[in-house]
Amino acid sequence: MSKTIVIGACGQIGTELVLALRKQNGNDAVIAADVKNDCPALLSEGAYMKMDILDREFVRTTIINQEITEVYLLAALLSATAEKNPDFAWRLNMEGLFTILDLAKEGHVSKIFWPSSIAVFGPTTPRDHTPQFTIMEPTTVYGISKLAGERWCEYYFNKHNVDVRSIRYPGLISYTSLPGGGTTDYAVDIFYQAKLGKKYTCFLSEDTALPMMFMEDAIRATLELMNAPNEKLTVRSSYNLSGCSFTPSELTSIIKRHIPEFEIEYVPDFRQAIAESWPKSIDDSQARLDWGWKENYPTDLLVKTMIDHVDPSLLNV
Ligand code: NAD
Ligand code: SER
Repeated sequence: MSKTIVIGACGQIGTELVLALRKQNGNDAVIAADVKNDCPALLSEGAYMKMDILDREFVRTTIINQEITEVYLLAALLSATAEKNPDFAWRLNMEGLFTILDLAKEGHVSKIFWPSSIAVFGPTTPRDHTPQFTIMEPTTVYGISKLAGERWCEYYFNKHNVDVRSIRYPGLISYTSLPGGGTTDYAVDIFYQAKLGKKYTCFLSEDTALPMMFMEDAIRATLELMNAPNEKLTVRSSYNLSGCSFTPSELTSIIKRHIPEFEIEYVPDFRQAIAESWPKSIDDSQARLDWGWKENYPTDLLVKTMIDHVDPSLLNV
C-alpha cells in the first residue's frame, strides 16, 4: 500500500485535505503530521504524528523508514503573519520544501504537492484576469517565498525529474477549521460575526477585490491535479486557479440577503497594502485546458453554504 503524509495537517487546508485523502485512499494510507502536539478530533480516524518540518533529519528518517511515497507539504506562515516575522517565515517556507524536494530527487518520494498562492504576483502584475505567465514582482516576504518555491519546484522537475505539482490558491473560505493568518481571512471571519449577530470590523477597505474560492473546490482541484496523468501537465511551477472574486462590500450585500440586520465597518490596517498588491481576479485557462479544472461554487452559493454551516463555537476551541 502506498503511503501519503500531509505536513501542516492541522491547518485550514490540511484538516479538509486529510479527510478527503482518507476518503480516497483509506484511513490507514494517510498520515496527518503537524508541529502541534495534539491531533484535532476530526483527524482521529487515522494516524497522527507530531513533526516539525524544520527538523530535517527527523522528517527524512520518518519518510524513508515508513516508506511514505506521496507528500503534501502545507506547513508555512501565511501573508500577514509572515510580515511580522520575515526571517522565520523565509526559513519555514523554504527549508521544508528543500527537504521534501531532496527526498524525491533521491528516489524516496514519488509525488509532491506544494501549494503556492496569488501572493506570487505584485503591484506591477496586471490585476484583472491575471494570466498564468506574466510579470511577477511580489512585495511581501510570503509572496517572495512562494515565487522562489515555484522556481525551485520547476527546477527540480527539469533537472531531477521530480514529480512536483502545485496550485496558486486564491483566498480559501471554509467552515471546518479557522484560517491561519492570511490577508484573505476577513472573508471567513465575517461569517462568524454575522452568525453571532455582531458588527464586523473589516481590516480591508470596502472596495478591495480579491480572488477567492470555497474550500470544497480547492480540495477537489488538489486531488484532480494530483490524479492527472503526468503527460497532461504543462506547468511545473504552479497553476493559476480561479473560483470567484468579490470585494468586502459585495460580500456584505450577499450576507445581508440572509441576515438583513448584519452590519460592517471598515478599518483598514497593514493588510490593505498587501491586498492592493495582489490580483483582483485570475485567468486559470491553463488549468482548465491541461487537467479539466472547473469551479462549482460561485459567490452566492459560497455565501449560502457558509451561512448554513459556520459554527461560532469553533472560535472557542
Ligand atoms: P494554516 O496556517 O491554517 O495551517 C498551517 C499548518 O502548518 C498549521 O496547522 C501549523 O501548525 C502547521 N505548521 C506550522 N509550522 C510547522 C512546522 N514547523 N512543522 C510542521 N507543521 C507546521 O495554513 P493553511 O491556510 O492551511 O495553508 C496551507 C498552505 O497553503 C500554506 O503553504 C499556504 O501558504 C497555502 N495557501 C493557503 C491559502 C489560504 O487561503 N488558506 C491560500 C494560498 C496558499
Ligand atoms: N490566503 C492567503 C493569504 O492571505 C493567500 O495565500 O495569505
